[in-house]
Amino acid sequence: MINSLNRNRLSSLLSHEEQLFHKNHPKSYALYQRARKSLHGGVPMLWMIRWAGSFPVFVKEAKGAHFTDVDGNSYIDFCLGDTGAMTGHSPGATVQAIHEQIQKGITLMLPYEDVIWVGEELQRRFKLPYWQFTLTATDANRFVLRMARMLTGRPKILVFNYCYHGSVDETFITLDEEGTPMSRPNNMGPAVNPLQTTKVIEFNDIAALETALSARDVAAVLAEPVMTNIGIIHPNPGYHDALRELTRKYGTYLIIDETHTICAGPGGYTAAFALQPDFLTLGKPLAGGVPAAVYGFTEEVSQAFTEKLAIDDADVGGIGGTLAGNALSIAAMKATLQNVLTDEFYAKAIQLQEKFTEGVESVINEFSLPWIVKRLGSRSEYWFRPTPPRNGSEAFAAIDHELDRYMHLFTLNRGILMTPFHNMALISPETTETDVDYHTKVFREAVLSLFG
Ligand SMILES: Cc1ncc(COP(=O)(O)O)c(C=O)c1O
Repeated sequence: MINSLNRNRLSSLLSHEEQLFHKNHPKSYALYQRARKSLHGGVPMLWMIRWAGSFPVFVKEAKGAHFTDVDGNSYIDFCLGDTGAMTGHSPGATVQAIHEQIQKGITLMLPYEDVIWVGEELQRRFKLPYWQFTLTATDANRFVLRMARMLTGRPKILVFNYCYHGSVDETFITLDEEGTPMSRPNNMGPAVNPLQTTKVIEFNDIAALETALSARDVAAVLAEPVMTNIGIIHPNPGYHDALRELTRKYGTYLIIDETHTICAGPGGYTAAFALQPDFLTLGKPLAGGVPAAVYGFTEEVSQAFTEKLAIDDADVGGIGGTLAGNALSIAAMKATLQNVLTDEFYAKAIQLQEKFTEGVESVINEFSLPWIVKRLGSRSEYWFRPTPPRNGSEAFAAIDHELDRYMHLFTLNRGILMTPFHNMALISPETTETDVDYHTKVFREAVLSLFG
């Protein structure tokens, strides 16, 4: 028999966890009160007001897969900076390279030789010949969209329902319950209504893709190869072949955003499944947590871009960033690619993630919960529905903010940080088997409190 949730019980358990959180974080609370006098909402980034627990935990220090807070609490970190610290915090080789580079200049507007090593390594991993640098994956996506529109002369882009690619204006669009596109709720002050710039369809829907592309007004499809920002949604067998075939058929560029799916292997999902994108974007963990991102593209794109580029205006054409490609992030990127995000890294992290997922699955089965856990490489996420969602709408329909909050806070109060607002867990090679077992135990206790 499938277990069902008692909402009264959930809400009283949640308020108990909130009190416990308050009790165990007095110094974080005091800092939060102080922060409110200088930081809008008491947080450095607006979205941090959404953390479960009504104020954020202030970190004292982080190393590897663990951190401590200002109140002296220690945590196993499965959030890992929402992929920004997928390498583990402050990996030794990256830290050493930063120390060395910082004595020799940080930012210049001129290249150091190391940047060529990074370009060659990206070439080797992703099989795309040309690379450029930015500081964030958001910028990488913004810039490739500009390039695609410029080269095709087409006005629109296409994204998948409930995608996330950073704060890229064109992507804040969803389908309503009738399947009609609309500006995403809380899309803050867009310069242009995304209905004018963007087509949105469901992931895994080949017929909708062909219809959308056949008007030949779409410059590029911007896609995560596996959706990761609304739970983990895998492509159906053959979907990527169809995506590539149809984009080619209708003269639309294919941009693969590997920012999260780099958890699938050293060359991301692209290398693991031999995808052939026209552009590839990647940020977050690339420099071990130092801001750095890249975008790569094909020979054909490179030639077409060179032909259209007016050199005298290249610095004011909308693709820029004074600090992009700075010496510090290049040194950190080189060290991270060379020594940290290695084949051995992935072998170890993926194996541990399998163990993590098995642990969660065993509890789901024990309590006959209508939940699932999905894995992609070193990342997993549990979702409150019995079967894997095939697209964004199905996944969105299963969101339960109160339950999310409870599961998050319950684990946080017991020394485990999951990714906020959903329950994603990343494993770094510095995570231990004991950490994973401890998560299974605490996850079971949370489930027991709800369904026991
Ligand atoms: C798939 C994907 N692309 C791009 C980004 C943007 O990354 P950033 O916020 O570091 O620019 C994100 C952020 O979560 C993401 O999930």
